[in-house]
Amino acid sequence: MLVFSGSSNQTLAKKLAKELKTRLGKIELTRFSNDEARVWINESNPGNQAILVQSLSAPTDQNLVEFCLIADALQRLGVKRIIAVIPWLGYSKQDKVFRAGEPLSVKVIAKMLQVVPLDKVITFDLHNLAIPGFFEVSVVNLSGRKIFREIMAQKITDKTVIAAVDAGSVKSSERFSEDLGGVPLIYMNKVRDLVTGKVAYKSMSESVAGKTVLIKDDLISTGGTLVEAAKFLKANGAARINVCATHHLYVPGAQEKLDKTAITQILVTDTIEPRSKSKKLQIISVAAMIADEIRA
Ligand code: R5P
Repeated sequence: MLVFSGSSNQTLAKKLAKELKTRLGKIELTRFSNDEARVWINESNPGNQAILVQSLSAPTDQNLVEFCLIADALQRLGVKRIIAVIPWLGYSKQDKVFRAGEPLSVKVIAKMLQVVPLDKVITFDLHNLAIPGFFEVSVVNLSGRKIFREIMAQKITDKTVIAAVDAGSVKSSERFSEDLGGVPLIYMNKVRDLVTGKVAYKSMSESVAGKTVLIKDDLISTGGTLVEAAKFLKANGAARINVCATHHLYVPGAQEKLDKTAITQILVTDTIEPRSKSKKLQIISVAAMIADEIRA
């Protein structure tokens, strides 16, 4: 089974092919002079099954179109089963109609991704557990938690607490606390202005004075949540702040803002191709987890 990669995360696709002891399928991804994507799979017999890797990271819409074109080309070459590996499902934060007149964007994207029948979709830490319901095929929602647990387990002391930085991260922070043997949890009260997107913290459930605070979130986008959480925690006496987040979207300027905070270390995965060399960042690959899932 060959691994075909779109442009968005070729490093991860190569690692996955290595894990699976196969190779990358030959593919040419170029653009016509009018900027349309041009895909050519240079394999005469790609086999019955193929793996297609594409994160819907920026440029999201281009990567989405590329995914659809590659899937179509594979089907035309006789591939019957396509396992779609979409480590970061772009548009997944648009998982609700927030105001009348808005689309249910992630549902539209799910339909587009199924331009040809897919065998299954493998993804990571979806923002909303209702999202698999928007697909007609089975969606395997893997989690970075396992990787973070292995690394963080060695760093837990009796001064460590886990901070849930918003209502949405409460459940996953609680699970993370259990994973790490019942590390105490504190809850932070985040308010986001829906118009400006600005984040502010008003209060938290317990004191963090002298504590090492561990934050577990699904994603870093503008960095606003972590920047404000770090300011609030530091102002309330936190001794150290470490972060685990599955997806780093590398929004321009986000990492630079995070570099100026009191956060010591930010652990992220390679669901999105790394675009920063910040010393605070530690990047862990999810290739082995994806390979395990495919082999299973
Ligand atoms: C919120 O629901 C998410 O879990 C993240 O905390 C949030 O999306 C991060 O976004 P930003 O980095 O822009 O604050």
